[in-house]
This record gives sequence, C-alpha cells and structure tokens, in this order.
Amino acid sequence: MSPDAPAPGAGASNPSGGPRYPLLFRPLRIGPLEIRNRVIFAGHGSRFVDWHTHQLTERQGHYLAERAAGGVGLVIQGSSMVHPTGLAAAGVNEVYSDAAIPAYARVAEMVQAEGAAIFGQLSHLGRQGDTFANHRELWAPSAVADPASRVVPHAMTRRDIADLIDCYRSAARRLVLAGFDGIEVYLAHGYLLCEFLSRFSNRRADGYGGPLENRCRLPLEVLEAVRAEVGDSVPVGIRVSAEEFVPDGLSPGECSEIVAHLMARTRLDYVSVSQSNYASIDRMIPDMSFPRAPFAHYAGAVRAATDGAPVFAVARLVSPEQCEALLEAGTADAVCLVRPLIADPEWAAKAADGRREDIRECISCNVGCRGGPHRGSPIACLVNPAVGEEARWGFRRLGRASAPRRVTVVGGGPGGLKAAETAALRGHDVVLWEASVRLGGQVLVAAAAMDYRDEFAESVRFLARQVRKLGVELRTGSRADAALALQNEPSCVVVATGGLPGGFEVPGSERVVPAQTAISHGVAGPRVVLADAGEAGWKACTTAENLAAAGHAVTLVTPGSVAVAMDAFSRPPMLRRLRAAGVEFLEYHTLSAVSLGTAEVTETLTGRRSTLAADSVVGSAYDIADDAVYNELLALQDEGRIPDTEVHAVGDCLAPRGAIDAIWDAFRVTRDL
Ligand SMILES: Cc1cc2nc3c(=O)[nH]c(=O)nc-3n(C[C@H](O)[C@H](O)[C@H](O)COP(=O)(O)O)c2cc1C
Ligand code: SF4
Repeated sequence: MSPDAPAPGAGASNPSGGPRYPLLFRPLRIGPLEIRNRVIFAGHGSRFVDWHTHQLTERQGHYLAERAAGGVGLVIQGSSMVHPTGLAAAGVNEVYSDAAIPAYARVAEMVQAEGAAIFGQLSHLGRQGDTFANHRELWAPSAVADPASRVVPHAMTRRDIADLIDCYRSAARRLVLAGFDGIEVYLAHGYLLCEFLSRFSNRRADGYGGPLENRCRLPLEVLEAVRAEVGDSVPVGIRVSAEEFVPDGLSPGECSEIVAHLMARTRLDYVSVSQSNYASIDRMIPDMSFPRAPFAHYAGAVRAATDGAPVFAVARLVSPEQCEALLEAGTADAVCLVRPLIADPEWAAKAADGRREDIRECISCNVGCRGGPHRGSPIACLVNPAVGEEARWGFRRLGRASAPRRVTVVGGGPGGLKAAETAALRGHDVVLWEASVRLGGQVLVAAAAMDYRDEFAESVRFLARQVRKLGVELRTGSRADAALALQNEPSCVVVATGGLPGGFEVPGSERVVPAQTAISHGVAGPRVVLADAGEAGWKACTTAENLAAAGHAVTLVTPGSVAVAMDAFSRPPMLRRLRAAGVEFLEYHTLSAVSLGTAEVTETLTGRRSTLAADSVVGSAYDIADDAVYNELLALQDEGRIPDTEVHAVGDCLAPRGAIDAIWDAFRVTRDL
C-alpha cells in the first residue's frame, strides 16, 4: 500500500474525488468506545470451534482477523454460551469456564492487531436446541416445546434464574479479562432471553411472565449484573428481534417498548436490531428470494426508543450503496453484515479505497454459510473458497508465483472461471476456452429459472469481469479439444468442461425432457410431471417454479421429501412458493415409465405403482461428467507425449456436483500453481 493510501476501513476516498460512502466510513461512538467506521461483522456461529472442548480455535481467530484486516470497524464474536445447558448445538463455543479465557484472548488479540474492535455476544440457546449436543435438558421460561426443536424444555426455577444471572456476570468478566472491547447480550432470534421477552414462548405466571415489565425482568437483571461486573468503561449493548413473525411474537411496537423499558433502567450503549426466531427461521437469514434490505426498517422503528444510543440494522445489506443510503435516511447508525463479509472479507476496504467493482458480492444463496452447518460441517461460501482457510489462503496470503507459467483452462463455467482468476492472480499467463459465446456455464441456465435467481448468475458475472480485468485471454465461442488446449504449449491444463444432463433408466425415457431444456425452451401441454431423481435441491424446485410460472399444472415427483437437501433457511420459503404456485407434491415416489400422455410412478415405501396424466414429463436428473477432453489429455500423458504438462479436472467433469464444489476444486488446484 502506498503511504498516501487510506488505511483499510479508515477513509473513503474514490478516484473521482471526494468520499463515496462518507457516512459508512465515519467513526462511531459506542458508549465510551469509538470504532473506526460503521461496518460491523455481526455475531455468527462459524463452527470454527473445537467441537469436543467447545473452545475457540486459532482458525476462528484467523477467520475474524481476516475481516478486521479487510477494514471493518467492529467484529462481534458470535454466540458464546454462558451456561452448560445453553450449549445445545454442535460446534458452539463456551464462555462459562475460565478454561475458555486463553482462546478468547488469542482471538481478541488477532482481531485488534488488524485495527478493529471486538465484542463478545453472551448467549444461551434456550429451548431452540438439541439435547444430543450436550446430553442435557433444554432451559426455557416455560415447559412449552419450540416448534422447530420439538423438545419439551425444563421450565426454569427461581434457583436456575439466579444461577443464570451469575453465569452471565462471570462470562462478562471472562471476556473483559480476555481483552474484549465490549459485550453484546443476545436478546434475539428466539434464544433463552428472547424467550422470556416474548409471549410466544413465555407462559409464566410469576414475576418473570405476563406483563411486559415481568417479561423484561430476567433480561434486565442480566444486563444489570453484566454492567455491575464490567463497569462504565466497557460498552454493553443488546441484540433484539424486532419482529418474530409468529402469533403472540414480538412486534416492532412491543420491541420498542422493551428497549425503552430496559434503557430507562440500565445503560445500554447500542441496540442491534434483527428479526425472527426458529419458527420463522427463513426470515432470520433471508435468501435471494427476498428483496435486498428486507428488514432494515425495523431498525428505524426501534431507533425512536433508544434515546440517542446507536442502532444497527442487518440482513441482506449487500452493497455499500445500500448501506450508505440506510445511514443517510437515518434508518440506522451502523450496519451489521455477516454473509457479505463471509463472501468478501475485504468488502469494507474495497468500498473505502475506490475498489467498489472488485467487491465479490454475497449472492444470498445460503449454500455454503447455511449449507455447511445444515450438513454438520462448519460454514463455507459459494463465492469464497478460502473461508476457514484464511491462515493459508486468505486475501493477504495468496501471493504471486515465483515463476509465471502458461496455463490453459478449458471451460468457462464457475470452475473454469475460478481457476482462470486464481491462476491469473498468481501471475500466470492464462488462456480460457469456452464453447459458448457467454461465460458462466450451467449457472446461467439455473439462474434463468426464475427472476429472483438472477443473483446466482452474479457469481459467474463477477468472475467473468475479474478474468477480463486480469488479462486472461478469452477464446469464447470455441470448443477446445485436447489439441487446441495444448496449442500454446501450456505447462498446466485445467479441464472444467462441466456436465451433461443425465437421464432416467426407465421405459420411455426418451420422452423425458431434461430440466435444463425445459427451462430454456419450455414444454408442451397443461399437465407436467416433473421427476426429481433424488437431488431434492434447487434444480428440481426452481424447475417446478419455472414451469408453474409458465402456466403448467405441475406435479413434483420426488423419492423422499421435497427440497430436503436445501438448508433450513431456504427450504421453508421454497415450499411456500411452490405450494402457492399450485405445484402438487408426490413425495416418496420415483418415475418408473413414460408413455404418450402418462407417467408411471412407484411409491418408494411400498413399491405400489400408479399412473399420472402428463402432457409432458420433465426430468431433474443427476448430471453426467463431460470428461472427454480430460480423458484425451490423460491418454496423451500416458503415452508420454506431454511429459511436462500438468492436467487437472475440476467441477462437474470430474464428478457432477454443485457450483460450490466446482469452485472449491478450481481453487484447490490453482492456489499453489
Ligand atoms: C452461519 C451463521 C450463523 C449465525 N449465528 C448467529 C449468532 O450466533 N448470533 C447472532 O446474533 N446472529 C447469528 N446469525 C445471524 C446474523 O448475525 C445476521 O443477522 C444474518 O446472517 C443476516 O445478515 P446478513 O444478510 O448480513 O448475513 C448467523 C448467521 C449466519 C449466516
Ligand atoms: S454461501 Fe452464498 S449466502 Fe453464504 S456468504 Fe457465500 S454467497 Fe453469501
């Protein structure tokens, strides 16, 4: 960085002169502390935690420090459990024992070394947990099962309440001892303290239930205990759900009353406004089917109650323009971002330094950041394969290769584009061949299924812009075979030729229209049977949406449950949309035969067969690897004809999977090249 360049996150100049996002990059006072700008990496569970000891890891430190180095003003370490009964999910971290302090201290040190402040979020999962995680009962205000967890919790006794308050107090002490700059008490998202606040979950008849004052009692006692422990010099704030979207749940009006009630009795240095609980989980982390900034207005609603203390807005605040506009409108004083900073750790620095067009925007797909935890793994990201690998592959570490090489990439889908981008960033001379005139591959077809899916295409549009900017030589509209791929004598060929639509091995399968073709060209007749081979994910569902939107009466036949492979945040709105569009579900059925005007299906549970009337049968089948070029190159290697050429296959031509897998493959083979 030149001496004249603004420090990451500190300034906001742009080449056209004058600050481009002046409000976003103005310092913010949070009680006694000033942070360098108003971009906050909000609390979230990454699961970069030791799953056995529940301690934070070095990996978590690198993950957070990467975003601090990328210019954010404040990092909030997500959900830290104050009591063993709160540890009711896999991969969450504890702060209820002194053994936790060294790891918190290390994480704080790593974040602060990059110029950001760090707060810790104190939490207890309450009844929204899983007893298998810690072999303990769940705690809640009342013995009423949460609709998502489906377990009757223990209704907390007065003794439990006193114990819990003490645990919050000592957890706050540990964070301060570990060098944290502030504390956030988690009153949001349907977890324990939120359960006390909300009539949806609090049915108590004692002094902790009933009128608002009583429902606020435990959160207030916790906040008073935390403040008494940390004193006036440490900022203490809260995170609330302003709207729970459930009967008897919190509303912006009641949430504002709660905030005013708490602030009249204890000092709060900020209020972070979110929304939802597990019963409305799809709106907690809204996917691309929601408009951008769908819930920021709740921050505006609560702001009137905070008596000047700063208010943070959140959820799908993807672009700096949008964030700046929220601050300008007075909706909020700062913005909380999670997924946009998972997708691009340098989001803030790029916005501040006039590198706006280089921001790799989060596409709100939830595929990696929610899909990882959904499958029992840590978070990942469809557009950022370095998530969780910051220590080795973060943006500050992906240096240039010592010797530039000639690299040829065959295929311009997500895998090919990512390979070309990474190789070019490493300083290699890259040629990319793509048979189509457009870059993007199957992502473009998938994104065309519905208007709201267009954001999916941004993942490849971004890469296409970057490879052009990096000087990759593009040979679009040219299908390369092995000979063409070797034309300029590359020392490395990355084959990313993708997949071909698979079929169904059933009588009459030649009548089945592949989903990709149905989306691109449409199908005949009013009645359409759409057979899902078993992926039970976005492809079958968006094809069903597309066909229903085109006016067909669609029956979706699937071997298990509809959309069962989708994460818990995107699946409910998908099911709602499908049913609202009139799509019929035929679950636990597979396609067994197709003939003119009918589709025969078999129930997987009983083997019983039945016949459906169908003017068209569309198949959402598993794809087949298009590995011809890869095999040609391997054969040349085997014959000893290209002894000095490395050959790699990435993405669907290696094994047909999702775009995230193609991007992982591409990054893996090129980051060391
Ligand atoms: C993987 C993941 C884990 C999360 N865990 C927490 C958490 O521990 N505490 C919390 O307050 N919010 C949590 N959230 C919610 C986020 O803080 C944020 O409100 C939400 O992601 C919407 O913001 P975004 O659109 O910027 O991602 C989590 C979000 C994600 C994606
Ligand atoms: S996986 Fe998708 S939603 Fe999650 S951070 Fe990455 S781009 Fe955003």
